[in-house]
Amino acid sequence: MEKLLIRKSGPLQGTVIIHGAKNAVLPIMAACLLSDEPSIIENVPQVTDVMLMSDILRHLGVTVDFSGDRLTVRPNRYAGTVAPYELVSRMRASICVLGPLLARQGKAQVSMPGGCVIGLRPIDLHFKGLQAMGATFAIEHGYIVGTANELHGAKIHLAGAFGSSVLATANVMSAAAIADGVTVIEHAACEPEVVDLANFLIAMGARIEGHGSPVIRIEGVERLHGVRYRIIPDRVEAGTWMMATAMLGGDLTIEGGQADHLGAVIDKLCETTVAIDKLNGSLRVRRSCDSIRAVDVTTLPFPGFPTDLQAPMMALMARARGVSVLTEKVYPERFMHIAELNRMGASITREGTSAIIKGVARFSGAPVTAPDLRASAALILAGLTAENLTEMVGVEHLDRGYQDFEKGLVRLGADIRRVTAEEGMVDRDRVTFNVERYA
Ligand code: EPU
Repeated sequence: MEKLLIRKSGPLQGTVIIHGAKNAVLPIMAACLLSDEPSIIENVPQVTDVMLMSDILRHLGVTVDFSGDRLTVRPNRYAGTVAPYELVSRMRASICVLGPLLARQGKAQVSMPGGCVIGLRPIDLHFKGLQAMGATFAIEHGYIVGTANELHGAKIHLAGAFGSSVLATANVMSAAAIADGVTVIEHAACEPEVVDLANFLIAMGARIEGHGSPVIRIEGVERLHGVRYRIIPDRVEAGTWMMATAMLGGDLTIEGGQADHLGAVIDKLCETTVAIDKLNGSLRVRRSCDSIRAVDVTTLPFPGFPTDLQAPMMALMARARGVSVLTEKVYPERFMHIAELNRMGASITREGTSAIIKGVARFSGAPVTAPDLRASAALILAGLTAENLTEMVGVEHLDRGYQDFEKGLVRLGADIRRVTAEEGMVDRDRVTFNVERYA
């Protein structure tokens, strides 16, 4: 087990380069199952979730090879239909093999994803969409057993209690790409990652219109071919660097930060007094005055403020001047980080699906546990602005979705080190000793 040792740092001066989007590449890797031909995917982030998706594809009989940020997927007439519990239980996004497997193999057995720390995360919309296209489902021994003699086009209204669903839209759109006839998805997710999947499928020969809007029309084709495709930059990684600059101060150029993917985030950060220049293919972020102004934020599906940046935004608001209300409209239970931030001196209370945040002048470093991926980024940012040492365990969550995050911080002069729990434990003097050894 590893931990991060974090000390007060900043300002951040320089440039970071954003990696490919984790949430774009996962459904795109699954969509490779729709063809027998090899595909080459570029700008793939080296994060644990991508490794897990590779393992799922390999389990199905697909050959997957990495070379740096390039991934080659060779389906080679794979015959597998089972995504096992051992892999699905480690990554909920495994559900996105369901649509491609049903469309290509007529059968899919995917371990039922369990709950997770950010909430219940039902999959009824995935079922609803694929059932409308002719699939049937049963739950047996903890597995979703789906069958479909032949999927056909359908008109599907894909709205749930919390709005559109990214991966349900991905599953239905992927399956519809080779289904018989025309599928229309109403209330489709508009996230840039859904658009990236649509562009990947179109490059493979699919006929798709309306992606990026709430109505997507897909005309099924006989077969899809292999392609070479480059993944979009990760907007959540870019947004996290924007918040890091807002918290630590400085002048950071974020190469790959795309303003059209981050409109709501840019808008809110500008309200807090952060200065943001939209350049060609990058963003320049500067903290323009001593204190950040508190602002109210509500997370919503794209183009709203992304739920995946709610935790880092909360860390920022916890140090702002004034009181802010942060309302979570996508995952109403995604608040596990409140208790950890409060352990560092934040003043945050929860009322239903909102967090009431009273900005404080200082954080005090503490041992903390990252409960999930985005919370891990929030705790790191908090630690970098706290007095004394912060020790964060749960680093495996960070590794699921942020490639080389702490290395990027170190390059910009921040004081953050990864050690094994054994090396980092014992007492504080010893911890200091280890920090020096690993510098
Ligand atoms: N929902 C349903 N029924 C469904 C599916 C979803 O009610 O069948 C609900 C969810 O419970 C939630 C809302 O709809 O309240 C939106 O969930 P969505 O299905 O859009 O989430 P997802 O597709 O499972 C992806 C990302 C998440 C991100 C969400 C929302 C991937 C691999 N995951 O999940 O990313 O938070 O969209 O934008 O693309 C992360 O990267 O940390 C992460 C959790």
